[in-house]
Amino acid sequence: MVHAIRFHQPGGPEVLKWEEIEVGEPGPGQVRLKHTAVGLNFIDIYHRSGLYPAPTPCIPGLEGAGVIEAVGEGVTSFTPGDRVAYAGGPLGAYSEARLMPADRLVPLPSWIDDKQAAAMMLQGMTAQFLLRSCYAVQPGETILVHAAAGGVGLILCQWARKLGVTVIGTVGSDEKAALAAENGCTHPIVYTRENFVERVKEITEGAGVPVVYDSVGKDTFMNSLDCLRPRGLMVLFGQSSGSVPPLDLGILAGKGSLYVTRPTLFVYTAKRDDLMTSAADLFDVVHSGEVKIKVRQTFPLKDAAEAHRALESRATKGSSILLP
Ligand SMILES: NC(=O)c1ccc[n+]([C@@H]2O[C@H](COP(=O)([O-])OP(=O)(O)OC[C@H]3O[C@@H](n4cnc5c(N)ncnc54)[C@H](OP(=O)(O)O)[C@@H]3O)[C@@H](O)[C@H]2O)c1
Repeated sequence: MVHAIRFHQPGGPEVLKWEEIEVGEPGPGQVRLKHTAVGLNFIDIYHRSGLYPAPTPCIPGLEGAGVIEAVGEGVTSFTPGDRVAYAGGPLGAYSEARLMPADRLVPLPSWIDDKQAAAMMLQGMTAQFLLRSCYAVQPGETILVHAAAGGVGLILCQWARKLGVTVIGTVGSDEKAALAAENGCTHPIVYTRENFVERVKEITEGAGVPVVYDSVGKDTFMNSLDCLRPRGLMVLFGQSSGSVPPLDLGILAGKGSLYVTRPTLFVYTAKRDDLMTSAADLFDVVHSGEVKIKVRQTFPLKDAAEAHRALESRATKGSSILLP
């Protein structure tokens, strides 16, 4: 038996319980993985709250790092003792140990430690697909990133700077503005007191930006459309403030023949080749030192409820992990 965080019905952070579970032996194509560090992500809150329905009892969590303890039939690419990390389904990362499909695992190079891996796989590969494939940014462009001091946000800022892109980034406080600026955001905007549409118009001299990366959702979506240049792309990739209501598509015509997409990492890394390419791209920028991954908050796994309270109250900055 090992311990895991589980919820039996969706709800607030208090539904997260520290319980004993049976992991069992790996089946065909699976490994048994002992977690050394687990990633904390906003999507874990969507699962816990019921916004994204999950079968119960549910062990949340989509990201972790650890050591393989046993391999099932047909697994040839990994052996017990290998260090690996993952980002994506199936749910179950908030545990001391778990079964995982071997084809979702990425081997860890020796220069990435387990805590750093758990902090960067999901948020880092998200930044990778957003900047390199969903909308492939070009040197010299100026883009808008919401929640620029968050987990995904700080990686987006650093990576965009490396690609020669100027980042305008919204943040919830002056402290977060300073952190975003240190990490490559040229124009931080404290959107809790400044009008970000007006500021983007000023900074771009009325032109607007070619792309907005918006993970805040309800509170920013409509105004974000007004920051785009004609034929610009609105990338809605999350909803930390709440879901965006249904959109009258005619609005996109009136605001300049705009495009909207609602992408997920899980589709962009569904094929093993895409997963490995994305991870390799992330490892390259981290190894070069151009994107630095710092673990800014650490919580014991058994205190996951406290971690969720911190994340959903906007008290965290950058990436956070849970330690089993
Ligand atoms: N589509 C995908 O594949 C994918 C993958 C990874 C993440 N995401 C999304 O990306 C976003 C960021 O994820 P993350 O894990 O890195 O979290 P995060 O950005 O570290 O935390 C969320 C941030 O959103 C901002 N925010 C604005 N209004 C908020 C509100 N009402 N309540 C809570 N937060 C609010 C806060 O920053 P300020 O205080 O600066 O406003 C907060 O720190 C999430 O929406 C997540 O779902 C999507």
